[in-house]
Amino acid sequence: MCGIVGAISKDRNILPILITGLKNLEYRGYDSAGVAYLKNNKINIIKTRGKVNKLENKLNKNEISNIGIAHTRWATHGKATSNNAHPHRYKHITIVHNGIIENYEEMKNTLLKEKYSFKTDTDTEIAAGLLNYYYEKFNDINKVIKEFMNKVIGSYAIVIMIDNDVDNLYCLKKESPIVIGINDNINIIASDIRAITKYTDKYYTLNDYEYAKVNINDIIIYDKDNNIIKKDIKEYKEENNNNSKGHYKHYMLKEIMEQKETIYNTVKPYINSIGSLLKLPDLTKYKEISIVGCGTAYHAGLVAKYLFEELTNTRCNVYLASEYRYQNNFLSKDTLTIFISQSGETADTISALKLVKSKNYPTLGIINVKETTISSLVDTCLYTKAGNEIAVASTKAYTAQISILSLLVLVTGYRNKTINENKVLEVLNEFKDIDNLVTPLLNKKNTYLSIAKKIYKEKDIFYIGRGLDYYLSMEGALKLKEISYIHSESYAAGELKHGTISLIEKNTKVLSSATNTKLNSKTISNLKEVLARGADIYLITDENYKDDTFTIINIPKASYFIKPILVIIPYQLIAYYTALLKGTNIDKPKNLAKSVTVE
Ligand code: M6R
Repeated sequence: MCGIVGAISKDRNILPILITGLKNLEYRGYDSAGVAYLKNNKINIIKTRGKVNKLENKLNKNEISNIGIAHTRWATHGKATSNNAHPHRYKHITIVHNGIIENYEEMKNTLLKEKYSFKTDTDTEIAAGLLNYYYEKFNDINKVIKEFMNKVIGSYAIVIMIDNDVDNLYCLKKESPIVIGINDNINIIASDIRAITKYTDKYYTLNDYEYAKVNINDIIIYDKDNNIIKKDIKEYKEENNNNSKGHYKHYMLKEIMEQKETIYNTVKPYINSIGSLLKLPDLTKYKEISIVGCGTAYHAGLVAKYLFEELTNTRCNVYLASEYRYQNNFLSKDTLTIFISQSGETADTISALKLVKSKNYPTLGIINVKETTISSLVDTCLYTKAGNEIAVASTKAYTAQISILSLLVLVTGYRNKTINENKVLEVLNEFKDIDNLVTPLLNKKNTYLSIAKKIYKEKDIFYIGRGLDYYLSMEGALKLKEISYIHSESYAAGELKHGTISLIEKNTKVLSSATNTKLNSKTISNLKEVLARGADIYLITDENYKDDTFTIINIPKASYFIKPILVIIPYQLIAYYTALLKGTNIDKPKNLAKSVTVE
């Protein structure tokens, strides 16, 4: 993962620009950070463990430089220490890197034979060594980069500074993104446009195996054979996104609260009438739907699977993107593969997409961020309108994903006649009224806080459900574990008795939802089974249960197209208030990153 920035300017101090750029890239990782810049004609490096703020504090406020590179890290090879932080330097070469050099051991052994020695545990230091080796061998940077790209296996976006060539930055890429922002007095290289939009809206993107030489007068882009290529300048159009926390303590809470608008914004183009709904792609021409995603996006896919299969009789399989590439997926031209991703840059999802594309099979993307790798690769892209999701734990992106997927199910059912017109109109009206359905749930702070007070000291928490409620419990458990660090797992309620129930003891906390008329009595029986073993139960339901042995959270009655939204909001807020009581870093939980750009 990691975020990289490089900047060069005629007359501006680039150090604040690098720091601002890194802060905007912290969603890619935030365990350590570093900067290298020209000072008295020498490259000076400052690194630290921890977030970009810490790096900023370490930098002398009066320091000025007009060329430099910087990095915010999510550790892959080697612990999150200051020593392993980037930039890495080997003699003449200083680099920042996003990606993984897969054959770094082999490269290292080659270099060790050449009497090279290394001080860190990172693959990036080996990359710096290799670049230095070729630099000393060829003394020609074009040859150096070409040779490097020929030899190295893996993914990389790299920005290079060279001791004897301090007027230029060089950048190269394979699989990890690079943009180059252009302005009259500053050129900026970065992992994505968020790092550059404060300074320019004009930028280039590099394709795999392209590289660039960037100085104050010029940006020269080359293909892998060292030919100069002409590329179109792209223009970034600012979305109307409010990126401030407003009066909220955390982005996560703000984003949960925004769901009353973001769900509506996402479905708005399609809910005015049946005619509007029919603007969505026709999925009835496929025999089967495959859905691929990671984490929360995968969970959104599971909700869609349930709805497609139960309500439209359409076969649907859901795959974890990280597994997809390494299994037999029985693909054919009759299967549509849907790729779900908030960021559009998740490496596992991109790899799975490339596999499907390599066979020329049809693809559809459900993506939140514009201008991403996934949105540019899929045949058709539907955008969720969740706005910028800044908290690492995904909330509003998930409800936007399940909303658009629900509409895809609805239109498929209408087209294949498994859902009649009256039902379609009823669901469209529910979406039109979504604000009134979700607002009362968002406002039940005291209920969620009182549950949080009962669970926040626990070590293990169980989430159980059946059918759709099982898939929702997976997302509920993920929310809790990622921000509160409490071990929480979800289980199909009927499966407990096949093993897991042995873990239930007096006061074990069990969270559940029962919102499926066909299955509720069975779920309740399973809850009674854990109750009999001493469990303390919290139940989200749209049924009118009167059972004071459970703590009940009532949600409004709604169709199956809306229910997932109503169940997940209590789960999200219970997770939020539990983490709040635990005092964790809610928006940036340990070990995580917002966008997972390594496999
Ligand atoms: O950007 P993506 O939707 O592709 O990200 C997928 C997962 O990394 C993401 O949903 C992750 O699981 C979140 N931290 C969940 O809250």
